[in-house]
Amino acid sequence: MVAFIDVCKLGQDRKEVSARSPSPPPRYNIPMPLPEIDLVVYPDECDAFGHLNQASFLSLFERARWEMLLRGPGMDVFTRAGAWPALRKTVVDYRAAAFPGDVLRFQQSLTHHGRTSFTMRQTARRVGDDTLIASAEFVFVCINREGRPVQVPPEFGEYMHARMESPGNVQRLMIRGVNLAVEVRGEGPAVLFVHGYPLDRTIWRHQMETLDGYLRVAPDLRGMGQSDAPDLGYSMNIYAADLAAVLDTLGVEQVVLCGLSMGGYIAFEFLRHWKSRVRGLVLMDTRAEADTADGRRARDTAAATARESGAEAIAQSMLPRLLAPATLSQHPELAEQVRGMISRTPVAGIVGALAAMRDRASSEQLLPTLADIPTLVMVGEADSVTPPDTARAMAQLIPGARLVVIPGAGHLASMEQPEKVNDQLRDFLSSIP
Ligand code: MLT
Repeated sequence: MVAFIDVCKLGQDRKEVSARSPSPPPRYNIPMPLPEIDLVVYPDECDAFGHLNQASFLSLFERARWEMLLRGPGMDVFTRAGAWPALRKTVVDYRAAAFPGDVLRFQQSLTHHGRTSFTMRQTARRVGDDTLIASAEFVFVCINREGRPVQVPPEFGEYMHARMESPGNVQRLMIRGVNLAVEVRGEGPAVLFVHGYPLDRTIWRHQMETLDGYLRVAPDLRGMGQSDAPDLGYSMNIYAADLAAVLDTLGVEQVVLCGLSMGGYIAFEFLRHWKSRVRGLVLMDTRAEADTADGRRARDTAAATARESGAEAIAQSMLPRLLAPATLSQHPELAEQVRGMISRTPVAGIVGALAAMRDRASSEQLLPTLADIPTLVMVGEADSVTPPDTARAMAQLIPGARLVVIPGAGHLASMEQPEKVNDQLRDFLSSIP
């Protein structure tokens, strides 16, 4: 709970609120990820043209799964329980060729867990250039020696669930040709959470977990998180159209749109095309201006760094700017979580987002037209990417907008001060007619 709030009028109907609070430090509930498995492609696995052949592909996927069990609950987790995972259905999307000597990195997640069946999703990326080589879904039914369906071994389920972030809430949706991971929770008026660059939907973990009474929808944008990363096809317009298609697929007509940083740039683009679908707007740690000439050059430099040195180099350079100094020193586990999130982002997604941000239009002209949309502008008091002055200037151009400065937060307010952010969100959401 926010203990006390300073309110100062910034105009007729605009309020600036500084939510000072002695509330206890937030709890960071970070799941341990499943191990990534690296496997080398051997010449005898390739066809006459030197490409990894499809049968070998399937056996590499299988080896990766067993290796994962070896590092986890044990390779005999199924035999110990008298249940064998029989493969019932496989859907493989082959995206690019792999060759002898390539090291492929396999990532896996559990996308469905029933009583006797479960579904694994696996991706294989080439470590050298982070190209997505293939993604696949495997549906298993556990059977006993007589071939009858039996319960999935509880030990396996527990191991996977402990490493999954609410798998039951994450849907895989085929959106405009790209497979997106979309977390959906709760019931009630819909709130659509849009993350920034180069992050994923888990920056909204605390909001997704606690904002009861609302249908909360948080997609991983194309190219980030657990969504697929096409090599081409990134712009604000494309991200916004993906969001509209996600809402169509879920049967949601109107939302409160909540975007953090690049998520805010996407929210502006969404408003240009689908304003009637937005019944409220939350702009968090973001700005309305387009990039300056220097800013555009910096995007190209960052893209070159990502191509040459990978996502970890981007994480290294961005981390100090994303979090408040106090978060960095007092919450190393949160810094580690953000570093991991960036490091796992596919290079294609990073390069695509950088181009999309570089080429985005200014949204300053849009701001005065938002008079009919209740708007909350939130910013971390120590945000050095989109500082409070920038947020204040933006709020002043949106008739009736409310500005809240979050103490103790940097650029990632939703993660750094989740309780203060949630209090403000609840207050704002309940005020929307
Ligand atoms: C973000 O957090 O989305 C980015 O830092 C925004 C930007 O670089 O303009």
